[in-house]
Amino acid sequence: MFNQNGHITAMESECRHMKAPLSLGKVENGVVTCHWHHWRYDIKSGECLSHENMDLKKFETETIDDWVYVIFD
Ligand code: FES
Repeated sequence: MFNQNGHITAMESECRHMKAPLSLGKVENGVVTCHWHHWRYDIKSGECLSHENMDLKKFETETIDDWVYVIFD
């Protein structure tokens, strides 16, 4: 999950390359960069900006009384 200026987004947490945890990646300007080999993902859409057809699945979120819920389909 990412919180950018109060806007919460959620997506798969493993990099599509070799499954590094993106929670350890660097977030900058709406992009998370994997700390292993530097693949980049848009944190709003899950789009992989480094390679085609490697997008992360994005999940809807809902905030109720300061609790954030991730909606799995
Ligand atoms: S595991 Fe993320 S770029 Fe290689």
